[in-house]
Amino acid sequence: MKVLDGKALAATIKEELKQEVDTIRLAGGKIPHLAAVLVGEDPASQVYVRNKVKSCEMVGFQSSLIRRPAEITQTELLEIVDELNKNPDIDGFIVQLPLPKHLDENTINLAIDPKKDVDGFTPVNIGMMTLGLPSYLPATPNGIVTMLDRYGIETSGKEVVVLGRSNIVGTPMTILLSRKGNPGNATVTMCHSRTKDLAFHTKRADILIAAIGIPEMVTADMVKEGAVIIDVGINRVEDASRKRGYRLCGDVDYAGLEGKVAAMTPVPGGVGPMTIVSLMMNTLAASKR
Ligand code: GUN
Repeated sequence: MKVLDGKALAATIKEELKQEVDTIRLAGGKIPHLAAVLVGEDPASQVYVRNKVKSCEMVGFQSSLIRRPAEITQTELLEIVDELNKNPDIDGFIVQLPLPKHLDENTINLAIDPKKDVDGFTPVNIGMMTLGLPSYLPATPNGIVTMLDRYGIETSGKEVVVLGRSNIVGTPMTILLSRKGNPGNATVTMCHSRTKDLAFHTKRADILIAAIGIPEMVTADMVKEGAVIIDVGINRVEDASRKRGYRLCGDVDYAGLEGKVAAMTPVPGGVGPMTIVSLMMNTLAASKR
């Protein structure tokens, strides 16, 4: 089985980005600047945002982290979004999700200027993507597409099954892989919590993309021999033998599938680093606009 090493591939792409930033700096151009808004203390979000900021520094981007307590009001958060929209030094920004329950993610998302929406979550960017027009592609689906492309995994004519229909992964993934182009041209089935006989669908998949957030739900009996498995899940499961008291695992039973499939992403070190890299590619593109 081939391990789809997102960590190594992301390092290669970051090196490419760094060289491009160095060239921009030498020419006296604008250094890309990404801002991230983090509300509250969600442990996973803190790790993700820290990794995003750290990655920016590695390639020579500027970065700003705006932290606010979970008690922030919707109006206050909208004011921050408005300031970032207007600040000419900030090329792109993200508001890390999930937000605390009292804040409305849709309202916040609608307030983000699509030109600075390097997460690719606003209606304009999702609409442009759907029409096949140039846009900021959502980070996780674009990271997966980049990975399939760089590993030379053919998608044209393949049966792709996507587990999950979220706005940030499942739905855009389905759009990207079914549209004309390369990677693309796949026959895509989207499954979700109301899908009957999930295994019937997953067993047909040449490429299976799991983004459901249920630890190790996809087991060996559910997949076809020789399939390519992309595991988007990052779940914490209790494990008293670990120093932190938990271990990280995906939506796929990695150990169980290892002997059966052709290629698979590990967790951690698979899709996660690719997500960050595609956010940075979007930020570089934003700074060039
Ligand atoms: N939460 C989980 N993934 C993401 C992401 O790609 N962007 C943002 N803003 N929040 C997330």
